[in-house]
Amino acid sequence: MSTKTVGIVGGGLMGAGIAAKFALAGHAALVLETSPERRATIPAVIGGILQELQAAGAIDAAGSAAAAARITLVGDLTALATAPLVIEVIPEVLAAKQELYQQLEAVLAPDALLASNTSGFLPDALGTGLARPERFLITHFWNPPHAIPLVEVVPGTRTAPATVERTVAVLRAIGAEPVVLRKAVPGFIGNRLQFAVLREALHLIHTGVADAETIDTVMKASLGRRYAIAGPLESADLGGLETILKVGTHLLPAITADGSGLEVLRAHIARGETGAASGKGFYPWTDERRAAMRQKRVTFQLQGRLPSG
Ligand SMILES: NC(=O)c1ccc[n+]([C@@H]2O[C@H](COP(=O)([O-])OP(=O)(O)OC[C@H]3O[C@@H](n4cnc5c(N)ncnc54)[C@H](O)[C@@H]3O)[C@@H](O)[C@H]2O)c1
Repeated sequence: MSTKTVGIVGGGLMGAGIAAKFALAGHAALVLETSPERRATIPAVIGGILQELQAAGAIDAAGSAAAAARITLVGDLTALATAPLVIEVIPEVLAAKQELYQQLEAVLAPDALLASNTSGFLPDALGTGLARPERFLITHFWNPPHAIPLVEVVPGTRTAPATVERTVAVLRAIGAEPVVLRKAVPGFIGNRLQFAVLREALHLIHTGVADAETIDTVMKASLGRRYAIAGPLESADLGGLETILKVGTHLLPAITADGSGLEVLRAHIARGETGAASGKGFYPWTDERRAAMRQKRVTFQLQGRLPSG
């Protein structure tokens, strides 16, 4: 099997996207999905991703066809036996992930890399029962993987440095932007930042300061634009640290530290408004709104972001 092969276990939202990302960069992607219903949807999901990239001008029809041809749905774990890298992308259930690793360890080559796309479990907890913990680590892709380049690479205390190096090299080769954490913390970096913002956004709704649309507009028209160019710490430097200290001294104590905003989420969920997939969350997710969001991705995020391979 080529060294440019990746095994993906779990062909759901993230697994399909990660498979497409690898295939676009010239890797063979072997996807194992246990649900027959889900399995049947994978070609259409991947087709949608490739169509979006074509609309953005990132790939042409031939590139799209070549990427699709590199993705193979496989029937069981033995098909991944010679893959040099396997990424676990099954639901966020600790015991299920651990059980899968035991099964994978029984078939994988000793030097194959084993990675998890977990959103929040720590690598040492995931890897408790591993016979070869040195080749295990977290590669946290962001949704949608074909449009968001970041991958947080999170080694555990037993992960070998060579595992991190090899994983970073593969991720760079597929045009991702890997960052390596010095140590694992819940939420890694991205979700800690995301939930710090979300906590305050929910608090602002909860306390009647503004509605969802206003809060989202503030983010999109200010910080969102800035953050693609300068992160929060670069922005602090540009703003001047003395000023940031003065503002932070009176503002930080006023920012919520409790989880009261979660009540806002609970109220939506109780009404069956669980987000875009249910048709309603903070917004009604009409076909028009979905199409507009897709078009924004095409226009603003995808141009020139992908490797041509
Ligand atoms: N959804 C996101 O935005 C997001 C972002 C980053 C990370 N993650 C993480 O990625 C992982 C997957 O999330 P998702 O949103 O793709 O979930 P999902 O439910 O869409 O997909 C998971 C898929 O795995 C399949 N599956 C379950 N057990 C399996 C097994 N043993 N072998 C093969 N397939 C199996 C399921 O049938 C399902 O299709 C989770 O750990 C999640 O926390 C999700």
